[in-house]
Amino acid sequence: MRLAVTSDIHIDKNGPGALAALAARVRTLEPDVLVLAGDVATSPTTLLETFLALRAAAPRVVYVAGNHDVWSHPEQVARGQHAWWRLDELLPALCREAGVDCLDAAGVEIDGVGFVGTLGWYDLSMKDEALGAPDEAYTRGEFHGLKWMDHVYAVFPGEDGRPMAPWAVADRLRSRLQAQLRACVAPRVVALTHMVAFDEQLHHKPHPGWRFCQAFIGHRGLGDVLRADPRVCLAVAGHTHTPSDLRFGGLRAVVSPLGYRGEWLGRPTEEAVAAAVALVEV
Ligand SMILES: [Fe+2]
Ligand SMILES: [Fe+2]
Repeated sequence: MRLAVTSDIHIDKNGPGALAALAARVRTLEPDVLVLAGDVATSPTTLLETFLALRAAAPRVVYVAGNHDVWSHPEQVARGQHAWWRLDELLPALCREAGVDCLDAAGVEIDGVGFVGTLGWYDLSMKDEALGAPDEAYTRGEFHGLKWMDHVYAVFPGEDGRPMAPWAVADRLRSRLQAQLRACVAPRVVALTHMVAFDEQLHHKPHPGWRFCQAFIGHRGLGDVLRADPRVCLAVAGHTHTPSDLRFGGLRAVVSPLGYRGEWLGRPTEEAVAAAVALVEV
């Protein structure tokens, strides 16, 4: 099976030209399945337009949400349109309308290959301990004048209506991934997470702000779940805008993000898009 793998296409930031270039590229590659590992857009209109355009370019599209896809403004949160609502209701409905398989809602089997997935969430397990930032900085998501915006826009209310702690969100989403794997009967499985699942996928930079942000990039527990199931032959992640292609025994772990236009090093759209779509055979 031929997969075209990408993530972090951020169409509301990169614009319709990036979407057109991506759809054209996918059409040229003729994959059996397009794998989309989150951070498509925040606007529901842009999300739907993107799903429709990409679904028209590939016979199947499997998707997990990114953190940007579950962002809401405070007035939307006050109306009940919080991150859980977006993850469990809005995004699956938009995917249904476009004919895209939303793995956050349910795993799927395509031609004998199981596809499971989750947005996942950060639990601070990947934080840079040597930085020595105080716990309180991680709780507030603020350090050295830098604010991690998920703390403002990704609000996951708990039973009591108050925002859940990130590690509680991470635990719940990891459990959902485990449940999908248990329900899957396919002999080979492709797993998608938006959050990074393995330390080796982190991109280290010396700036203290960057080192601080590392805490919000991934969740080691997701990697533990994937490594514990020998059927998982491919793990696709996003969120970090640094590509990687790693192997852990029989498990291949791929990150192939487009990222923001400002990260394209001056390359034209078509070139950046071509580099952002990895072809993977499973
Ligand atoms: Fe992203
Ligand atoms: Fe992200």
